[in-house]
Amino acid sequence: MIYEWIVRPVLFRFDPEFVHDMTVLAGRIGGSNPITRAIIRTAFSYSNPALEQEVCGVRFPNPIGLAAGFDKDCKLMHVLPDVGFGYEEVGSITAEPYEGNPNPRLTRLPEDKSIIVYYGLKNCGARVLRERLKGKHCIPIGVSVAKTNKDFKTLNAKIADWKEGVQLLKERGDYITINVSCPNTFDPENFNDPKLLNQLLKGIGELKTRKPIFIKLSADLTTEQLDSIIDVCDRYSFVKGLIIANLVKDRKKLKLKSPKHMYEGRKGGLSGKIVKPYALKMVRHAYERAGDRYVIIGCGGIFTAEDAYEFIRNGATLLQLITGMIYGGPATIKRINKGLVRLLERDGYTSISEAVGAATSRQRRL
Ligand SMILES: Cc1cc2nc3c(=O)[nH]c(=O)nc-3n(C[C@H](O)[C@H](O)[C@H](O)COP(=O)(O)O)c2cc1C
Repeated sequence: MIYEWIVRPVLFRFDPEFVHDMTVLAGRIGGSNPITRAIIRTAFSYSNPALEQEVCGVRFPNPIGLAAGFDKDCKLMHVLPDVGFGYEEVGSITAEPYEGNPNPRLTRLPEDKSIIVYYGLKNCGARVLRERLKGKHCIPIGVSVAKTNKDFKTLNAKIADWKEGVQLLKERGDYITINVSCPNTFDPENFNDPKLLNQLLKGIGELKTRKPIFIKLSADLTTEQLDSIIDVCDRYSFVKGLIIANLVKDRKKLKLKSPKHMYEGRKGGLSGKIVKPYALKMVRHAYERAGDRYVIIGCGGIFTAEDAYEFIRNGATLLQLITGMIYGGPATIKRINKGLVRLLERDGYTSISEAVGAATSRQRRL
């Protein structure tokens, strides 16, 4: 209430990227000493055994993760457990640092509960992140790796850059995500093409990383494209999960409520509420098709416990969000986790894992 009535209206008067940077700074300060952390923990943290899961050998205290793109350079890892997150995904990180696309890079569309994102993989680079991730962390950390956002001339050069990023980070964090779905780069989403994805995964396989590898997919894929991607992933046993989904790039299919002048001419992919129907449909299809082989991580437009539960019942084992927290404030995570426990109890489940896929035609694999 306080966030929605007082804090958000003030924050939304400022430039979104400035607010993002200030939030990261505040989070960094909040996570830097035990007193502020204890205060934040008292206000926002929530735990319940029904929310705990072991996934790919990693223990997740709850299923709600901070999606890639908010804590790009891993400055918040000390505070996020106290804000209530069950894990976080840092990045997307690239082998070389990148200052990002030209401004404006973030645009709010409040009527659609969405954000237009045009960062273009702004990040500190894999070498800096490798140092930052050396210490211990309290919740699982996924490291999202993408291709450096520049105009590589050959496919081999693109794959070599990607491999360099993974090589530098493969001993860090608890899992590695290969982000093949950033819509704001030189050759956006090309690696959704099964042939190119195959070449990429072949290269990643040569690195023999011991960490589970997840693939982050675009929200714009058709069912046929998703099937082809699953067919390619099936050739590589190190691929353990699919993160569904990234931003929506194809605006033609969207019926936006916001006035045109707010988004016309603004480049970028869209997050938030409008992603949910596409992500949910893909989650369900991926789970029914390959839920015995992959962990499905649902992402896109999760604002409430009901949203989260819908993703879980359609096959997601873990969840991620950003925009729900921007519109709902830091208490969103606690609210979702508490609500999830209530929904599980209502339906007679004792843990999240019992509810995974309950609304699909596939029985939950154990
Ligand atoms: C500010 C912002 C930056 C993002 N940057 C990245 C990124 O670097 N890598 C990535 O895989 N996804 C990125 N995303 C996409 C999110 O991880 C997520 O897939 C998408 O926003 C849908 O979730 P949401 O509706 O909960 O925000 C970004 C999203 C936002 C809002």
